[in-house]
Amino acid sequence: MFSSRVESNLSANRLTEAVRARRADGHPFIDLTLSNPTRAGFQYPPDLLAPLADARGLRYEPSAMGLLGAREAVARDYLRQGLTVPPERIVLTAGTSHAYSLLFKLLADAGDEVLVPRPSYPLFDHLTRLDLVVPRPYDLDIHGSWSIDFSSVERALTPRTRAVLVVSPNNPTGSFVSRPELDQLAALCTPRGIAIIADEVFADYELEPGASHRAGRVAARRDVLSFALGGMSKSVGLPQVKLGWIAASGPDALVESALERLELVCDTYLAVSMPVQAAAADLLDRGAAVRAQVAARVATNYRELSLQSAGTPSCGVLRSDGGWYAVMHVPSFESEEDLAVGLLTKADVLTHPGYFFDFPRESFLVFSLLPREASFRDGVTRVLRHLAPQA
Ligand SMILES: Cc1ncc(COP(=O)(O)O)c(C=O)c1O
Repeated sequence: MFSSRVESNLSANRLTEAVRARRADGHPFIDLTLSNPTRAGFQYPPDLLAPLADARGLRYEPSAMGLLGAREAVARDYLRQGLTVPPERIVLTAGTSHAYSLLFKLLADAGDEVLVPRPSYPLFDHLTRLDLVVPRPYDLDIHGSWSIDFSSVERALTPRTRAVLVVSPNNPTGSFVSRPELDQLAALCTPRGIAIIADEVFADYELEPGASHRAGRVAARRDVLSFALGGMSKSVGLPQVKLGWIAASGPDALVESALERLELVCDTYLAVSMPVQAAAADLLDRGAAVRAQVAARVATNYRELSLQSAGTPSCGVLRSDGGWYAVMHVPSFESEEDLAVGLLTKADVLTHPGYFFDFPRESFLVFSLLPREASFRDGVTRVLRHLAPQA
């Protein structure tokens, strides 16, 4: 009865089952996979969401791409980052996942392909499948820091490729796409009529000094049709308000054609609520206070992870330039899944195994840098203590 867009195997993996069992028993553990900022002990001003009650939200003014005032607020947010994006080229969405779905509808027919980085964000499997698009991986290589393996990009390109996705900084590798990499991607995409989709939701969170300054940003490009994705979920730690955006750039005629079509797609759903559009400017301003706390937290935890692991030679923290995650290379005495289950059941600490993110080989653990500092410190100590006797 059901379509093949939805995965038919809905059974939980061993780690998820072990987490459920611990929760059911009320057995406490330190969660180093926490990715929900609203559960991480930040001081959200209690009236932060007061702008959602603005009386302007009482009137329904359907607007496919979003109210101009809200799009102007997003344009100001790009200016804060040193980027000029005309508000007319900004499209509001109900979060970043929604933005991907709109862009897949704009660019791809059933069975068309998009290139996705590996390792990266596990949701791509579902996001593509739900829109009948086929994900083809290209590799990120680590040589001190991560970079795009362009031979794998060229191998993955086919006549059905419609877009190349980059995540900058990437979840979980923490690598920004560099300007020369973006130039090289543009040179591959432009002549083939392939668009670039750049997920920049973590762009505000720099972990290594100067990394975001060196990053390539698609908003500045005039040569290749590009779409930058951003959203309040990460930029101001408000995933629950469900506001994201797409900023289109590239050759003028192509951008115009893309926006005309996107308008039709958006008009079909009108998915972004009026109250959030009316509140967008205030939320972006007030949310800066949350962003500052998140930025300080992830930087402190990244330093802590690097410091602690420096004392365990068999475990190395990979350089992470930005974002909310860090990766540790650990000895391969058992499968990553066995290791993660063992860490949970024996050391009471939850981490993500690298294979969740499609690392090409074992063994890696992925840490969220969001947990409170004391609990993060304790969690890392437990992981390293658990690994030490094996090393
Ligand atoms: C790389 C990346 N893009 C997008 C998202 C989702 O953002 P949103 O909440 O706006 O859908 C996430 C969430 O973790 C993410 O890691």
